[in-house]
Amino acid sequence: MYRTHTCGQLRKENISQTVTLAGWVQKIRNLGAMTFIDIRDRYGITQLVVEEHATEAVRETASSLGREFVIQTTGRVVERSAKNPKLPTGEIEVVVEALKVLNASLTPPFTIEDQSDGGDELRMKYRFLDLRRNPLKNALILRHKLTHEVRSFLDQRGFLEIETPYLIGSTPEGARDFVVPSRMNPGEFYALPQSPQTFKQLLMVAGYDRYFQIVRCFRDEDLRADRQPEFTQIDCEMSFVEREDILENFEAMAKHLFKTLLDIDFPEAFPRMTWADAMEKYGSDKPDIRFGMTFNDITKLAQGKGFGVFDSAEYVGAICAEGCAGYTRKQLDELTEFVKRPQIGAKGMVYVRIDADGHYKSSVDKFYTPEDLSVWAQACGAKPGDLLLILSGPRKQTLSALCELRLEMGSRLGLRDKSRFAPLWVVDFPLLEWDDETQRYYAMHHPFTSPKPEDIDLFDTDPGKVRANAYDFVVNGVEVGGGSLRIFDSALQNKMFQVLGFTPEEAQRQFGFLMNAFKFGAPPHGGIAFGLDRWCSLFGGADSIRDFIAFPKNNSGRDTMIDAPAPLAQAQLDELSLEVREPVKK
Ligand code: AMO
Repeated sequence: MYRTHTCGQLRKENISQTVTLAGWVQKIRNLGAMTFIDIRDRYGITQLVVEEHATEAVRETASSLGREFVIQTTGRVVERSAKNPKLPTGEIEVVVEALKVLNASLTPPFTIEDQSDGGDELRMKYRFLDLRRNPLKNALILRHKLTHEVRSFLDQRGFLEIETPYLIGSTPEGARDFVVPSRMNPGEFYALPQSPQTFKQLLMVAGYDRYFQIVRCFRDEDLRADRQPEFTQIDCEMSFVEREDILENFEAMAKHLFKTLLDIDFPEAFPRMTWADAMEKYGSDKPDIRFGMTFNDITKLAQGKGFGVFDSAEYVGAICAEGCAGYTRKQLDELTEFVKRPQIGAKGMVYVRIDADGHYKSSVDKFYTPEDLSVWAQACGAKPGDLLLILSGPRKQTLSALCELRLEMGSRLGLRDKSRFAPLWVVDFPLLEWDDETQRYYAMHHPFTSPKPEDIDLFDTDPGKVRANAYDFVVNGVEVGGGSLRIFDSALQNKMFQVLGFTPEEAQRQFGFLMNAFKFGAPPHGGIAFGLDRWCSLFGGADSIRDFIAFPKNNSGRDTMIDAPAPLAQAQLDELSLEVREPVKK
């Protein structure tokens, strides 16, 4: 037997027992007569003590140890004289009677402590060492608990977990596919699934009316803190349901997760907001509703007074920062610089201060009287002591810049506390999105999303106005999940393909298998998929999903530990009938 207890297990109750522990050397302190060794495993840390009268062999082995050596020890549990209240095992220590090195270790390239001295790249290269640290260990434990709770909740509600293939054809989720060449079918390629969307719909046709899968998805897209090229979805689909059935079921799942993982109750129903309202009031389809500071459209109020910038703008919008009238010139300049960043793209920012006595001071005093400004303030619900921040320009860009400014102000004012959660359903997305560049409509979610029945007539007259029976689940400004009711009628599906610019042949080639299946009795169905990694990072109070994935990719999509992607050997290329055109840069 390698061990009788783990390194996080021993307590006062174990005093005077003889135990055997195995684990890694965290720290060694040699105090002359005595040597203290901290031994660590997944469960915790226990202090070992090699006393002066330990055997020669024990003392010799102890002096040969280095950090991260794997050791096994047998000894007696005693009460510590200097207790460590920070450690669960801090009331005891083990007096070493036998000590064995199971494996030596090189000196690790960074310290395995909660706050490591290793940079990002180094820790990614030695991910197996980074994973020994508590923050990462706790992240993976959180992930395990979350998946466990999802499985147990969905199982209780009659959902079946069914696996779908990874080697498939192109999926219509809007990102680029990762492709895999087929040796047996030279010149042909599989695509890895961006999601199991079409397969879960086929399972509905097959009669598995409640399906779920915790499944890896692959998307070749630009990476961000909340995006990885391979990520995990909690993918779900249900038959014979309306929107309400789906929202009820998954709201219950979300509440179950909040309760079991964070002990947070949500006695009320989650709020719902239409996409149109979200865009109008927050400039985003994933609003962070932990705080207010919503947008006020003051276009009409601001025009006609001779200020050219506002007069020529399609949209003038203001947010009211409560209690910020005292912002200094420097702070306002910083905010102006912030909105002028290329990725935000505003041309400038106008402010109006309403001081404690109700006097107005603005950056556009030349054009507007205090009465004009007081009308704006009233429209924004501002009071003495508040500050109005105003952006103007083309509507879409200005809404999105104002969204960034609002979030920035929210952060500066400490209104985005990570331990507070504000879940929200965003509903009634537009079905289609117009792309100026290619001059065509794209599906906002995917081509199988059903339109709201009352909007179907608009298909022929004003397709851009058709609303979808689609919904997103948003928490603290993060899109955690999204789904829709699906089209299950071939005529409507064909119409959708037509609006999306597919020729009947293209539609048949890409989605013929699904259209064909729909001819054999497709039930009404719909579903949702949640980003498991995003859910974990939210619950773990982190911004990035990376640390909740055991072996993630870096921002260039590389795994620096195994050095992938990498060129293929010529023999392998030949076998796959592939020729690489450009020399591969390394
Ligand atoms: P969607 O594309 O919205 O929907 O994806 C569902 C959820 O998956 C998460 N997600 C990601 N997480 C990490 N990295 C990524 N690159 C990434 N991309 C998406 C998000 C998102 O809300 N088939 C549909 C679902 C349906 O209609 O049922 C789909 O995949 O949290």
